[in-house]
Amino acid sequence: GKVGVLFGGRSAEREVSIMSGNGVLKALQSHGVDAHLFDPAERSLAELAAEKFDRVFIALHGRYGEDGTLQGALEQLGIPYTGPGVMASAIAMDKVMTKRIWRSVDLPTPRFLVLDAHTATREELRQVPDVLGLPLMLKAPHEGSTIGISKVAGYSDMGEGFALCAKYDDVVLAEEFVRGRELTVPVLGAGRTARALPIVEIRAPEGNYNYQNKYFTDDTKYFCPAPLHAALTERIQSLAVQAYKAIGCEGWARVDFMLRASDNEPFLIEINTSPGMTGHSLVPMAAKADGVSYEDLCLEILASAAL
Ligand code: DAL
Ligand code: MG
Repeated sequence: GKVGVLFGGRSAEREVSIMSGNGVLKALQSHGVDAHLFDPAERSLAELAAEKFDRVFIALHGRYGEDGTLQGALEQLGIPYTGPGVMASAIAMDKVMTKRIWRSVDLPTPRFLVLDAHTATREELRQVPDVLGLPLMLKAPHEGSTIGISKVAGYSDMGEGFALCAKYDDVVLAEEFVRGRELTVPVLGAGRTARALPIVEIRAPEGNYNYQNKYFTDDTKYFCPAPLHAALTERIQSLAVQAYKAIGCEGWARVDFMLRASDNEPFLIEINTSPGMTGHSLVPMAAKADGVSYEDLCLEILASAAL
């Protein structure tokens, strides 16, 4: 049947989604799928309904695409879609809620504080490094692709990092910095059949895997499968599946970790329910290490589309 590839959108990650959507479109078409692009930022939900897609592949990132709102509309329209459902999408788009859930089931995630972006006082800001240490991370909880994130080295940088978050969000997540290796693990499937793909290790210039180094430079080095002992690999993959299930994910998602250098302890950072599918992206890299091409990965994800 007819397949819609939803892409573009009106989040801060629009540009990334355009790259993901075009990649997915080509891959599906190369397998003979009757796939068509659809940009919900430029066309209405009524037009989406009128397209009579049999199912849609969500290649949107960020708000209004990855955050459960579109998933809710698709449920209402009765169109099966890829990736997690309404609740898991909404939770995963919020780094604070995600961490609260992981904590509640004893999954390891760095210590954190939540500040009100509008009313936090100077004194409250000053106390954050006392609690979390330095450096620390300040994050706008509802963004992706490192947008609204800064690493704060000293008290004097708190104000600037905080102001950046406040541009994007009403709350600010302050998180303990985990010094170590940056890892990510895609998970596919649901329930008993949920499975982790090989771990990707990311080594970005100066440890700064930011927007530029994610999509536009070739300076970031990737290792897949990540060079880790078998037992640690297994533990991290198992944690990824547990983290995925705790949020209620199905279909696919990508779980990001930091592996603490001092003792090789893994910490969950966040989960992405509509991961990037660009030429530089990580899920396709992990799939490839597992012997699955970009094209076959897209087909497998599409096959999992459900209501
Ligand atoms: N938010 C980007 C697209 C990712 O997680 O891959
Ligand atoms: Mg993210």
